Amino acid sequence: MVILKSPEEIEKMKVSNGIVAEILAEIAEMVRPGIRTIELDERSELLARKKGARPAFKGYRGYPFSLCTSVNCEVVHGMPSNRLIREGDILSLDFGVYHDGYYGDAAITVPVGKVSDNAERLMKATRTALEEAVQEARVGNRVGDISARVQESVEGAGFSVVRDFVGHGIGKHLHEDPQIPNFGVRGRGLELKPGMVLAIEPMVNEGSFEVRVLPDGWTVVTTDGKLSAHFEHSIAVTENGPVILSLAQA
Ligand code: MF3
Ligand code: CO
Repeated sequence: MVILKSPEEIEKMKVSNGIVAEILAEIAEMVRPGIRTIELDERSELLARKKGARPAFKGYRGYPFSLCTSVNCEVVHGMPSNRLIREGDILSLDFGVYHDGYYGDAAITVPVGKVSDNAERLMKATRTALEEAVQEARVGNRVGDISARVQESVEGAGFSVVRDFVGHGIGKHLHEDPQIPNFGVRGRGLELKPGMVLAIEPMVNEGSFEVRVLPDGWTVVTTDGKLSAHFEHSIAVTENGPVILSLAQA
């Protein structure tokens, strides 16, 4: 069941998602060779609480951290640890908060110092696929239009889309209907209505789309060990077109 949001609710979700975007930007600033992913996690939680928000992921299905830190071949749900970030790594940062009754959720992938050309291309292709897919989130379009746009964009750049994890509706719950796959067929799926709020989150692999979950029960990695990138925005479908909620508020 899809829960439509009123304009007032969308304003609140702009605040929640704005907090997420601001914190992601601050965490990205801290990323440098020699930092430990656990330091980023601790800082993200502190920043959320300072802004009067609660980290959304901590305790969600037993997830023990506030931030997901996925390095190189890690796709999503990488767990912060004493791992040292090194020059040439790419690091995906996925963060969410709960504030004033509503969730915010967004992700970015950042380079650590100088990275390979292919890593740069992968990150750019993933960010571009997200930007293009957001433009498909228009009243009268369908979920399949968003999904197909991600897939076309990514595969056109020579990369592959992860099948096993998907985007989602978001609101009073972190995960609501509908699911937003990163692959699909135009014209198929649920019709988009004003008031839908969706987290669109392409997970893009350098090689094969196949992934597996590590024995820790969380960390998702590429089966071929090649790189993966992840960008996510929470957006609202409105009569005036898509509105990106996960932007830092002025
Ligand atoms: N952005 C991810 C999602 O939508 C983050 C969830 S991590 C979890 O699923 F720990 F909360 F599960
Ligand atoms: Co999400």
